[in-house]
Amino acid sequence: MGKKNLTIMVLCLSCIVQVAAQTKPIPVYLDDSQDIEIRINDALSRMTLEEKIAMIHAQSNFSTPGVPRLGIPEIMMTDGPHGVNKELEWNGWGSAGWTNDASTAFPAMTCLAATFNPDLALSYGKAIGEEARYRKKDMLLGPALNIYRTPANGRNFEYMGEDPFLISKIVPAYVKGVQENGVAACIKHFALNNQETWRGHIDVDVSDRALYEIYLPGFKAGVIEGKAWAVMGSYNKYKGQYCTHNKKLIMDILKGEWGFDGVLVSDWGSTHNTDEAAQNGLDIEMGTFTDGLTTGEKFSFDRYFLAQPYYKKILSGQLPMSSLDDKVKRILRLNYRTNMNRNRPFGKFVCDEHSAVAREIAEQGVVLLKNNNNFFPVIKGKFKKIVVIGENASRKLCTGGGSSNVKVSKEITPLEGLIEKYGKDVVFYTMGYGSGPTSYGMVSSSPYNADSLKREALALAKDADVILYFGGLNKNFNQDCESGDRLSYDLPFGQNELIEELLKVNKNTGIILISGNAVAMPWLNKVPALMQSWYLGSESGKAMANVISGEVNPSGRLPFSIPRRWEDNGAMSFGKISYPGDSIHEIYKEDIFVGYRWYDMKKKPALFPFGYGLSYTAFSVGKLSSDKKFYSSNDTINVYVNVSNIGHMDGAYVVQIYASQKNPSLPRPVKELKGFQKVFLKQKENRIVNIAIPVKDLAYYNDKLHKWIVDCDRFTLSCASSSASVLSSIFVNINNN
Ligand code: BGC
Repeated sequence: MGKKNLTIMVLCLSCIVQVAAQTKPIPVYLDDSQDIEIRINDALSRMTLEEKIAMIHAQSNFSTPGVPRLGIPEIMMTDGPHGVNKELEWNGWGSAGWTNDASTAFPAMTCLAATFNPDLALSYGKAIGEEARYRKKDMLLGPALNIYRTPANGRNFEYMGEDPFLISKIVPAYVKGVQENGVAACIKHFALNNQETWRGHIDVDVSDRALYEIYLPGFKAGVIEGKAWAVMGSYNKYKGQYCTHNKKLIMDILKGEWGFDGVLVSDWGSTHNTDEAAQNGLDIEMGTFTDGLTTGEKFSFDRYFLAQPYYKKILSGQLPMSSLDDKVKRILRLNYRTNMNRNRPFGKFVCDEHSAVAREIAEQGVVLLKNNNNFFPVIKGKFKKIVVIGENASRKLCTGGGSSNVKVSKEITPLEGLIEKYGKDVVFYTMGYGSGPTSYGMVSSSPYNADSLKREALALAKDADVILYFGGLNKNFNQDCESGDRLSYDLPFGQNELIEELLKVNKNTGIILISGNAVAMPWLNKVPALMQSWYLGSESGKAMANVISGEVNPSGRLPFSIPRRWEDNGAMSFGKISYPGDSIHEIYKEDIFVGYRWYDMKKKPALFPFGYGLSYTAFSVGKLSSDKKFYSSNDTINVYVNVSNIGHMDGAYVVQIYASQKNPSLPRPVKELKGFQKVFLKQKENRIVNIAIPVKDLAYYNDKLHKWIVDCDRFTLSCASSSASVLSSIFVNINNN
């Protein structure tokens, strides 16, 4: 080697040594190769008190700060649960005016539940999670899963109906789908927020049995099976304490019994007290106004209960550092799961794939309730004049309803879908009735002349071959909308009168109700056909036209019972103290007998029961059988039933298995859903359906012993086509618990 080369080599080596000496080791909290819990502790140890306090409350209407000095990112949130919300002002509720934020609207939660198909919940979660991720959100405020306790609740459309078992199968799948994207699902509203009237303060009195058996299972499944990274505390009170900092709900149950290791986020303005928020498990305070109320002009983040007031109490030693550290650790865990996970996918936004998911859920959720003389499907080419009547055929229904409102990239209305399907020379439309624009917290009057709308509709209806009436509720205040309940069970905007008059001029009228809630149907006996549809999102019109024309065979099932009168509903039957309460308190007097459990107990059939839904094809369902007759508590009962499609169209059938106990030690419902499966069968195809029921699912909650118990007893398992029609039953015995 020459002298020159040697000199170069020595210089290079010394450079390498110098660079190595200058390169600092990666701090543990940023080292991907380390365990997350170790990284959390390292990050925490580097943080000042001010940085910790900053992290646990909002910095804007929908975000919390990270730790800028350490490069720990902010957490960006979005509503939920039906589509990713538009960008809002930093400090306010107005639109930020972005032009790239119109997203896909997916069907409402009621529709998802009506599919009785957890696979679709996974697709839903995955797709909406991808949209959230693409829009750089770390937390999606959904799914929403309060219980359909009364048809009055203005937010039932955002929830999944009355049955805790059905909800418990849908929620984990949705949560997993969202979180695959490195975006947290935030299951809401925990708990007992089952009405909008006085939601900000009503104190719910409910038995432990009803709490554990009816109101909590969906949340428990979301946390334990879905492994949700976030839960939202609700506005109302329980046992005199606000749910958002309720010791029993959060410390004892959520973080205690269920071992939840994620963050408990407040609802927007549901925090009311620094000490309770600090000590009872609230991790992130959002949406509080300066006066601690839920209304105001601008947020003043420093004055939040978990901001300066908390800081001062920690400094003075009135509140311990340990609970603050616990909150910060949970938030850091959220960071590592979401925006500090360098491997999370990038998401997708407004694409054909998401439209297809939205459409399939919509198609599988529509419920056919009545179909005399095969009114539906309305076969293409059969009629020359199809008259479409009703505002819901042309109204954009993704708008309104409160926080679940979606600024959509597209929304195909039913009318547009029908015109595309049947042609514009065949489809004739008139509104028939009209309502005002959607407004939050108030009803805006209708700009239409009701008489002339009706007259026009009757004139057009006279010589129609067939009438498709699209009515129901909409997203206006006091309909299906946040912050207020419904005031009446009747269809609004004069629809009952309109339907009666239409039937006088043309009996060939099929009714399609779009709503998230049950309504009174005084005209039911006079109409040949009825479909319950939902807020179906971006692909609404396509899905509706596919179902109406028979391209898709309806397979939805009701996720809630439709009573004849709303006094027939359990909660409503006890008068004011049970719903909506006396403005301070409310007693859930119907206890565990919610939904079909009530109608069964009272032997008062609902107009349409939970689980009900027809098809264009016919099915024959064989006798139920089981693998054994005797089981012990750790066993799984396998039941089998043969289902055949004996009609003339491919279709899907929902096998439902209900359980009843012979001699329960405490009163139990006549029957409860314990298994279901949607089976897709081609014409003439048949299949043996196997449903596995873990014996532990037959348990009831013993409030004295504070334990779930399966009695040694005989149980009846029934295969049913709805909660009110049992097809065949078997007995099984539990002989060892
Ligand atoms: C609603 C939540 C929503 C939040 C943020 C509240 O009024 O109850 O469901 O996520 O606002 O918009």
